Amino acid sequence: MYPELKDKVVIITGASTGLGKAMAIRFGKEKSKIVINYFKKDDPAVEGIIQQINELGGDAIAVQGDVTKEQDVKKLVQEAVSKFGRLDVMINNAGMENEVPSEDLTLDDWNKVIATNLTGAFLGCREAIDYMIANDIKGSVINMSSVHEMIPWPHFVHYAASKGGIKLMSETLALEFAPKGIRVNSIGPGAIDTPINAEKFADPKLKAGVEELIPMGYIGKPEQIAAAAAWLASDEASYVTGITLFADGGMTKYPGFQAGRG
Ligand code: NAI
Repeated sequence: MYPELKDKVVIITGASTGLGKAMAIRFGKEKSKIVINYFKKDDPAVEGIIQQINELGGDAIAVQGDVTKEQDVKKLVQEAVSKFGRLDVMINNAGMENEVPSEDLTLDDWNKVIATNLTGAFLGCREAIDYMIANDIKGSVINMSSVHEMIPWPHFVHYAASKGGIKLMSETLALEFAPKGIRVNSIGPGAIDTPINAEKFADPKLKAGVEELIPMGYIGKPEQIAAAAAWLASDEASYVTGITLFADGGMTKYPGFQAGRG
């Protein structure tokens, strides 16, 4: 736990499910003030998350919005400031994927994934950083990348391209805004048990295939990614900018070369 996160104002996009929800609850435990962005109108999950955060001693509001829409992203920052008075941490987490052999990938599918995963994160970075500069806040921006910012992924070319884009976008922004004390980092999760993987992990054969790619031998839990986000937002990471923090059970370390196999 990081006492300095108490009362920090945190926006998390795509926060009604999976990693976003786990991060919202983690920042609730830290007693932060959280703006939960959610996508699906009237999402029934949101009320329960707010209640849980309140019970943990944090505070939260929910703001519906589509991260691909400039006005919706501007609204997230406006709502954070009007309800909680400032913004300290921006977590661009919203994302999507779909499996399509690249020769069949439609322009619509390509555009949708790039718009959500990369352009949405850019808009979140820009709006948050603009606010932080104007208000002299040495904030923390965290972008949800993936091990696929470095591991190529056949049938997911749009997803891999979006996460590769996140890597250099984060690094570039880190360099540009380091003099202002604004830190920009990414998290690179491996395979984590969230709705994005529900179908795959429901099939024991597919699940076992994924587990084989993980040196630590098991699918990660959303809380393990939320812990990485809390650390990056905390003062313990005050000298850390421009990194991707891989939380992947070793997936990026060439598991094929584990002892006896390489
Ligand atoms: P998820 O499917 O539960 O979460 C994605 C969230 O993004 C959902 O709440 C969805 O409603 C929201 N979203 C989608 N389009 C949106 C839009 N246009 N505007 C606002 N919100 C939108 O899956 P998960 O795993 O929690 O994914 C979160 C992030 O983590 C994504 O960026 C994903 O690429 C990344 N990630 C997940 C991994 C995993 O194994 N679960 C591994 C590596 C990265």
